[in-house]
Amino acid sequence: MEKLIIKGGKPLHGEVSVSGAKNASLPILAAVLLAGGRYRIDNVPYLRDVNTMNRLLGTLGVECLHENGSVNVFNRGDCGSCVASYELVKTMRASILVLGPMLSRTGTARVALPGGCAIGERPVNYHISALEKMGAEIEVSGGYINASCGRLRGAEIVFDKVTVTGTENILMAASLADGVTVLQNAAREPEIVDLACFLRSMGADIKGDGTSTITVKGVGELHPADYSVMPDRIEAGTFLCAVAGCGGRVLVRNCPVSSMDAIIEKLREAGLNIEIIDDFTVLASSDGHIKAVDAETFPYPGFPTDMQSQFMAVMLKSDGVSLITESIFENRFMHVPEFKRMGADVSLNDSGAVVRGCRSFSGAPVMASDLRASAGLVIAALMADNTSEVQRIYHLDRGYESFEKKLSALGADIRRVPGDG
Ligand code: UD1
Repeated sequence: MEKLIIKGGKPLHGEVSVSGAKNASLPILAAVLLAGGRYRIDNVPYLRDVNTMNRLLGTLGVECLHENGSVNVFNRGDCGSCVASYELVKTMRASILVLGPMLSRTGTARVALPGGCAIGERPVNYHISALEKMGAEIEVSGGYINASCGRLRGAEIVFDKVTVTGTENILMAASLADGVTVLQNAAREPEIVDLACFLRSMGADIKGDGTSTITVKGVGELHPADYSVMPDRIEAGTFLCAVAGCGGRVLVRNCPVSSMDAIIEKLREAGLNIEIIDDFTVLASSDGHIKAVDAETFPYPGFPTDMQSQFMAVMLKSDGVSLITESIFENRFMHVPEFKRMGADVSLNDSGAVVRGCRSFSGAPVMASDLRASAGLVIAALMADNTSEVQRIYHLDRGYESFEKKLSALGADIRRVPGDG
C-alpha cells in the first residue's frame, strides 16, 4: 500500500487547476443507462471511483473508454445482466446510482446493498421507498436489492431527510416514468443541477433542480448526448483550505465560484483573503494567521460535510477555540484521533469537535480512514513542523486527481512512496 511522506511548514505559491467533479461525474455516467447509443462526457477526473463506475457500467452493457479527460461511452442498449454485483458495489457506495436508471429503462434491476462505511451506517431506504411509490416491486434479500416493475409511474415523493444520491436516483428514474413526479425536500447540491442539465440534454423534462421541489415530467424515450462535467467544488475548497492552513498565494483555476458561497465565506472568516477574479478563477492568499471560527455542516447551500475535516485541519493552528459540528454523518470524526497523534489539541464531545488552536504541532505517522478525512490529514501534515506519513491513501485516490502532484507544484514537500504492505 502506498503512502505519502509530507514535510510540513512550507507556504504554497503558484497556480492550480481543479479537475471535474467526482460527485457529478458518477451520476452522469450512471445516467447513460437511460438510453442506448454513443456519448462523450468531458472533464471527467481520473479517479478510482470513476474507474469503478466505468467497470460497473461495463458489466451492464455499456462500454466506457476514459482517455484525455473524456469518457467515450457506447451503450449497447440491453443493460447486460442487469446485475450490479457485490464485488464492485462494495468498493463504492455510489454504485447505488445505477438502480434508478436501470430499473426505469428495463423494468428489472438487481443491485447489491452498499452497506455501511467508516463515516456511518448510510442506508438506502429512501431510494427504495421512493421507487416503490413509483410502482416498483422491491425485495431485499441475500444482500441484494431485487427490483422489478412495468413502466414506473410518476408520484409525489417526500424525502424524510435530504439525500443527494437518493434525489439523483429518483430524478433519473422519473425521467422515463409515466406521468409527473414531484420530489419534495430534494437535495439542492450543484451536482444535482449538473445531472439535471445532462438529463435535459438527453431530452428529459425537469424543472426546479437547485430548489427543494423538483418536477419531472416523464418522457417516452431519451437519447444520447455529449456533456462537460462541472468542476469539483470540494477539490477547489480543499486547495483553499491548504492555502489558509499553510499561508502563501495561489491562483485557483476551474474553481466553481458560484457553488462555493458557504466555503468561501467560512474561509474568509478564518482570515483567508479570497479575491474572485471571474466565475471560475480565485486568488487565495494568507500570511498564515488563522482566526478561530465555528463551523457546522448542512446540506447545500450550507457548509458541506465533505469539507469538514479539511476545515478542521485549518483550525488546528487558529488563534483560539473553535467548535466543529457534524450534522449529516454520525461518525465523521475519524480524523480526530489522527490529528491528536500529530500533537494537535482536539477533543470530541456531544456537540462535535472542540479544536484549541496551537502555534505548532509535530506531525506523525497517521492513517486515513475515508476519502475526505485523508484530505484533512494531508493538510494537517502540510501545516505540521516535522515529517508526517499518511498511510492508506487509496482513500485519497478515490476522490482527488493527482493530488500530491498538484500540491508539490505549489511548493509542498510531499511524495508518494511504496508502503509497508
Ligand atoms: C453524497 C455524496 C457524499 C456527501 C453526501 C452528503 C456522492 C456520490 N456522495 O453521499 O460525498 O458526503 O452526499 O453531502 O454524491 N440517508 C438515509 N437513508 C437513505 C439515504 C440517506 O438515512 O436512503 C441518510 C445518510 O445516512 C446521511 C444523510 O441521509 O445521514 C445524507 O446522506 P446522502 O445525502 O444520501 O449521502 P450520499 O448521497 O450517500
